[in-house]
Amino acid sequence: MSNQFTGKTAVISGGAGGIGLALAVEFGQLGMNIVIGDIDTKQLAEAEQQLKTLGINTLTCPLDVTQYQQWLQLLDSAEAEFGDIHMLINNAGVGGLPGSIDDTKIDTWKWVLDVNVMGVVNGTQTVGSKIKAHGQGGWIINVASMAGMNGVAYSGAYAASKAAVVSMSESWAAELKKDKIMVSVLCPAFVKTRIHESLRNLQPEYQNVKQQGATKAQSKGGMGQAAALVESGIPANMLAKRVVEALDSKQAYIFTHPNYRQGVGYRSHLLDKAFTDAEHSPIVGHLKDDEIVIL
Ligand SMILES: NC(=O)c1ccc[n+]([C@@H]2O[C@H](COP(=O)([O-])OP(=O)(O)OC[C@H]3O[C@@H](n4cnc5c(N)ncnc54)[C@H](O)[C@@H]3O)[C@@H](O)[C@H]2O)c1
Repeated sequence: MSNQFTGKTAVISGGAGGIGLALAVEFGQLGMNIVIGDIDTKQLAEAEQQLKTLGINTLTCPLDVTQYQQWLQLLDSAEAEFGDIHMLINNAGVGGLPGSIDDTKIDTWKWVLDVNVMGVVNGTQTVGSKIKAHGQGGWIINVASMAGMNGVAYSGAYAASKAAVVSMSESWAAELKKDKIMVSVLCPAFVKTRIHESLRNLQPEYQNVKQQGATKAQSKGGMGQAAALVESGIPANMLAKRVVEALDSKQAYIFTHPNYRQGVGYRSHLLDKAFTDAEHSPIVGHLKDDEIVIL
């Protein structure tokens, strides 16, 4: 078996379970060396066992994606074990807590943005920069969500974090094209994982999230509803096969749920209408024909 991935090395954050582990299995079975970093060290040991049983070259590293130093340590270990790295999958993420604008605590915002946004920044500044430096090209896959394509009522922090991941991916795709690095953003809807139990990985510095947010949200049945939606999701291994298919045809946006077209399409329609409204505006409409700088 030989393909564009064989013999290359992938680093996957949050690779000890869920979507990350499914991607580790899929790319490992295509002949990649797999480095998984995860905050859950017990789960990490189990994942290592599973991957090695499948005959996959595996390295596991404890990693909290919010900690830049831990990314550097992972990078050192990965290069010592496998040499150059070719793929970074910024997958680790937390679901936050469902809550209204007023219910969602500042601690919840910080936790969700630190893990889901700064975790991706840290991974890209460390591992991503090394992929750029060796000059052979490669892949960066950022795991966002359909929630990054449309705002979600009562999930403002999570949706904002995923919209940021979409935006960073678009920016970096343009920036890294010259370095032969393909940047893709994966935007799944529900996938059957433990995302609704993200509080299990809460770091000590965010403990207030548990005390404040969870109690309120749960009293409204918020987490129960989230669990039911996640349970109805597609299997993670189906998603992983879809990611390989999408990379084979260089898809920048990787969608896994075609039935979400209508909702996102409505947003596209509203954006297009906003341009029409501006064109019809007596105040700014004339700018349409002016020579103005477009980024
Ligand atoms: N499951 C879904 O329905 C769904 C939908 C859209 C997007 N996503 C995204 O997919 C990604 C993977 O989530 P999942 O569904 O597999 O959930 P999951 O909770 O099953 O797995 C997440 C993994 O990330 C690890 N992790 C959590 N915080 C971490 C941290 N600070 N540092 C390092 N590792 C950490 C966990 O230990 C776990 O192994 C997330 O970014 C999530 O937002 C999930």
